[in-house]
Amino acid sequence: MGLSTAYSPAGAGSGLVPAPLGAGAGAARRRSAQVRRPRLATVRCSVDAAKQVQDGVATVVAAEAPASRKECFGVFCNIYDLKAEDKTKSWKKLVNIAVSGAAGMISNHLLFKLASGEVFGQDQPIALKLLGSERSFQALEGVAMELEDSLYPLLREVSIGIDPYEVFQDVDWALLIGAKPRGPGMERAALLDINGQIFADQGKALNAVASRNVKVLVVGNPCNTNALICLKNAPNIPAKNFHALTRLDENRAKCQLALKAGVFYDKVSNVTIWGNHSTTQVPDFLNAKIDGRPVKEVIEDSKWLEEEFTMTVQKRGGALIQKWGRSSAASTAVSIVDAIKSLVTPTPEGDWFSTGVYTTGNPYGIAEDIVFSMPCRSKGDGDYELATDVSMDDFLWERIKKSEAELLAEKKCVAHLTGEGDAFCDLPEDTMLPGEK
Ligand code: LMR
Repeated sequence: MGLSTAYSPAGAGSGLVPAPLGAGAGAARRRSAQVRRPRLATVRCSVDAAKQVQDGVATVVAAEAPASRKECFGVFCNIYDLKAEDKTKSWKKLVNIAVSGAAGMISNHLLFKLASGEVFGQDQPIALKLLGSERSFQALEGVAMELEDSLYPLLREVSIGIDPYEVFQDVDWALLIGAKPRGPGMERAALLDINGQIFADQGKALNAVASRNVKVLVVGNPCNTNALICLKNAPNIPAKNFHALTRLDENRAKCQLALKAGVFYDKVSNVTIWGNHSTTQVPDFLNAKIDGRPVKEVIEDSKWLEEEFTMTVQKRGGALIQKWGRSSAASTAVSIVDAIKSLVTPTPEGDWFSTGVYTTGNPYGIAEDIVFSMPCRSKGDGDYELATDVSMDDFLWERIKKSEAELLAEKKCVAHLTGEGDAFCDLPEDTMLPGEK
């Protein structure tokens, strides 16, 4: 089923051209009107530029730009800075970013950060391709309208749709946020199946139409196994390009260590979250540093580190739900920004960041062929390498094995979605997402 629209600028017609509901993917692609936001470089002001330009700036007063002038586009008729147009000549190639669950709370925080240039840089124009569902389509329109009204100069295109084959076309980044939350009484196995199906479909769509080097960040829970399903359904995209979001857990761990040590969190580095984004995740205090010193030297309270710190991080999502009555959204969006920035900017010397990645070829002895959070470094080219200068002790290894066992069991539950035969679901214990009660 396909439904998509692209946005025209404010003042240039209705601004929204929905394709009819009920069409198949191909039909919808043909029928949907793709009205693109015009590039700044092509925006025209209805003035005699030669007369108006002074010191490279063209200023058109409102009185000289009556609303009836068809060649003007809204606000651009009032003041148009030609220096900005010059700047566009050196701007980089458009980056296409797909966001699923785009009408949800996390996206509502994230999209405006992406559009502001905070993530990809102030010289990087972007296109946002928003994926929602039939049910959320009207809300998606609202999101796109708010993006329009925000006048972000770097946001060059916004399109919305419910067909991943259409929305993921040529995308360089796919931020997969949309997933069904676990309802009361729902077995974890049922959640794995329902959400797994979504990520199998989206993997297939990415495989068919996305950029061959698309980077995929899975946020929808259970994100590690969803990322595994997604990559297995996208064999033409490098498995290394798929990530499961554990940066929120890393940020939470940094905050707790800073609090305990009585320092600001910028002093905390080398924090790894190992394993699954669940209550078996392992926040690593063995390798973490405060002000360049091992955490265990700064915080001498081993009992606190092993018990309270570890549990606080593992269950922080749940504690937040109790306060808010819903899952974390703003801090999740911030951590998505952090996760992307960690891949598009060089990692500070000696430090690393956590992300859930495909384990094949890992140097730690973690089981192959799962998605596991590990310490990584990037040169800022979108790629990463696993950090090898890490220590291991019995406490850390024992907990890593527990999270590994959980992920191996989850993998068996979704074998029908990864092309590995019949599913057999026997989860060792019903471990939870950080937000589950
Ligand atoms: C979080 O860590 O805050 C979320 O993954 C919790 C949840 O279950 O939605």
